[in-house]
Amino acid sequence: MKTDKIIIHEVGPRDGLQVEKTIVPLTEKIAWVDGIKKSGIDIIQLGSFVNPKAVPQMADTDQLFIHYSQPENKIDNVILSGLVLNEKGLDRGMECGAEMFCMGVSASETHSQKNTRMTPAEALGRIIPMAKKAIAAGKKVQVSVQSAFGCGFEGVIPKEKVMAIVKEYLSAGIKNISLADTAGHAQPQQVEDLFGSILELDSSAKLACHFHNTYSLGLANCYAALKAGVTSFESAYGGLGGCPFTKLPAGNVSTEDLVHSLQRMGYRKDINLDSLLDTARAVGTFFERELPGSVLKSGSIVDFKKE
Ligand code: COA
Ligand code: ZN
Repeated sequence: MKTDKIIIHEVGPRDGLQVEKTIVPLTEKIAWVDGIKKSGIDIIQLGSFVNPKAVPQMADTDQLFIHYSQPENKIDNVILSGLVLNEKGLDRGMECGAEMFCMGVSASETHSQKNTRMTPAEALGRIIPMAKKAIAAGKKVQVSVQSAFGCGFEGVIPKEKVMAIVKEYLSAGIKNISLADTAGHAQPQQVEDLFGSILELDSSAKLACHFHNTYSLGLANCYAALKAGVTSFESAYGGLGGCPFTKLPAGNVSTEDLVHSLQRMGYRKDINLDSLLDTARAVGTFFERELPGSVLKSGSIVDFKKE
């Protein structure tokens, strides 16, 4: 078994659900998080501290964090993260005990305006002080570039725009950086090139990736990211997900598919795929539809962990 630590960051409760119109009751969200936590996954993103009028599905994020901060519900060995996009969100997250904050800036002017009503420059000018404040308070922080590989509204996003944001993060001393393929335009060579360029700039950067399956390239892009030196992978149960403010929201890489393929390659055999599959099944039953995940439909390959 390979020893490299590959981190799995389950974003189903946030990215997976944010685009769904049917509001999921808190009890259901808790049951799914409890299912995921049994798998041995490293980080679970419980929700986003955004304007509930903009994303009603995320309105109970504070309650979810409060639930898991009660001594009887505390989760050992799993970090709980929350997405924040402005100061008010950070204050909410601090108040309800979030341990890790994910915060991002879109490299696309159009997506940035639709998503946050800010230009990328304005968003960056707010995110960096927010990140520093959270780090100073002892929180884990991951910053991201959204729409890093292309945009449904604008098409190509020049590499220089992405790298300019990354350089600002690095010069502010923030090393945990995620590139998010919000529109699903990424292709594997581009993925290797962009992540490779960041590691050339700073070999101590800790890189994360976040891919959507708009053009079915999510897993191929994860493999390219792995080869380029990315160590943290964001994915969602059942392959649900999508940004409500992008042109064509499409699902995230499915967590079960990602874990199944990583385990076949010798990584993270400690993760319990069955609890991931059980949770994804429960999510599909709730929404009364077949979710995009492949292993969910086909079942895992017999004895796949022995390869
Ligand atoms: N949490 C709760 N409410 C918030 C908030 C937050 N983080 N930020 C702003 N608001 C509220 C304000 O209190 C104000 O409320 P009011 O109308 O009752 O007075 C209202 O939103 C407008 O505030 P403003 O400061 O002008 O912010 P905004 O409307 O420009 O909101 C965002 C900025 C980013 C919070 C908002 O655009 C948003 O929630 N976008 C959703 C982005 C998202 O989740 N995308 C998918 C994941 S990337
Ligand atoms: Zn996403």
